[in-house]
Amino acid sequence: MADLSVTFAGIRSPNPFWLASGPPTNTAYQAHRAFEAGWGGIVWKTIGDPTPNVASRYSALRLGTKRMVGFNNIELISDRSPETNFRELTEVKERWPDRALVASLMADTREHWHELIRRGEDSGVDGFELNFGCPHGMCERGMGSAVGQNPDVAEKITNWVMEVARKPVIVKLTPNITDIVQAARAAKRGGANAISLINTIRSITQVNLDSFVPEPYVDGASTHGGYCGPAVKPIALNMVQNCAQDTDLGLPISGIGGISDWRDAAEFIALGATTIQVCTAVMHHGFRIVEDMIEGLGTYLDGKSMKSPQVLVGRAVSSLRKWEDLNLNFKRVAHIDHEICIGCNLCHIACEDGAHQCIDLLDPESTGIGYGPGRMKGKAVPVVREDDCVGCNLCSLVCPVDNCISMVEMSSNPTPMSWSQYQYLLSKGAIAPIPPHP
Ligand SMILES: Cc1cc2nc3c(=O)[nH]c(=O)nc-3n(C[C@H](O)[C@H](O)[C@H](O)COP(=O)(O)O)c2cc1C
Ligand code: SF4
Ligand code: SF4
Repeated sequence: MADLSVTFAGIRSPNPFWLASGPPTNTAYQAHRAFEAGWGGIVWKTIGDPTPNVASRYSALRLGTKRMVGFNNIELISDRSPETNFRELTEVKERWPDRALVASLMADTREHWHELIRRGEDSGVDGFELNFGCPHGMCERGMGSAVGQNPDVAEKITNWVMEVARKPVIVKLTPNITDIVQAARAAKRGGANAISLINTIRSITQVNLDSFVPEPYVDGASTHGGYCGPAVKPIALNMVQNCAQDTDLGLPISGIGGISDWRDAAEFIALGATTIQVCTAVMHHGFRIVEDMIEGLGTYLDGKSMKSPQVLVGRAVSSLRKWEDLNLNFKRVAHIDHEICIGCNLCHIACEDGAHQCIDLLDPESTGIGYGPGRMKGKAVPVVREDDCVGCNLCSLVCPVDNCISMVEMSSNPTPMSWSQYQYLLSKGAIAPIPPHP
């Protein structure tokens, strides 16, 4: 099997799977169990001035039978003392010398940052992650996302840290910002060795319609929380790719946000992450999920003849382009496999009401299509009018049967033409305008 070991900003780890700073990384007891399960690294629950928490703290978005599709928390940093945390970090590092152990830190003043870094260095950890991301509680005290949202402040604080840090420093970025790349560049200017992203997204998950108090409920009130879990993965992937694509940046990336299995992890790696971090999926399913992650990624890499995850890092980054550079002459249309279609008509309704009205419901016998094993006699059959299909994907996304609707490439104009080229050719009078859709 491929060798899954990675080196991230100088920190060695037997695999790219790290636990993100949060409830699963709160104590030595948990760290031992996580490493026993196979996690390659741990970013400890953020250490700073211990702060009390409220009850309750979590709420979640449920979709049908799927629980915790999105997860929201109003928890703050560690409520344990720095003494206890650093002592346990030393104990964990001594027992697991081959694993990556990173202390997440948050402080207010320059002196306080220096003190935490020095104590972290003494504890024997492999590196530091600066929490510039908490979107609740700590930001009201001038820390967390209050820092991450202001590139000048983030740069200054990173600079303070670099004055004393000898171990690698990772800056953890907040997604609650318009342009994540500006925040990443600030971290670089401050001297950071790497970045990690994303921290949680400011959110409200649900409102109780009897009490009119959103969740999580705290004595008749609530507050804006930090959103994470599977629902945030697309946002995190986008931001990771943005940073990976920025040629000025050139910092290693630890990808975080909605990662639940090896596929999610591989996608983050393909978009530029060297390591990945997981929080919500472990809170939901426990430390053991890493076993499938290790096996799945190893098998995938073997199948691609990749000897190391390093070969996968960034492989998908350059296929993301500006919209204006995409090929206008590329054509795809929906193709329905009538052998496995169950005749639910969801595709017809979606196309009729939400797309381009080009899936007809026809009589299976008079069309000669007949009945597949999954469709009852008398049921109409959906048929795509290919000339009118714009290839939007909607029907294939709503179809409940795997591989029943595929998007098929059509022979089209073999010469690619992007919007930029189209504008140029139009301005030269070299082509006629593309007629508007009827
Ligand atoms: C309950 C909870 C507490 C968290 N505490 C911290 C923290 O102390 N420091 C930190 O940097 N991130 C913290 N996070 C954010 C996670 O490290 C991670 O960035 C985020 O949850 C996205 O990853 P996920 O989708 O795998 O959960 C916390 C997340 C949750 C759910
Ligand atoms: S791809 Fe879009 S336009 Fe084409 S049939 Fe499906 S829903 Fe209709
Ligand atoms: S959504 Fe899929 S299964 Fe349902 S009718 Fe359309 S093609 Fe058939």
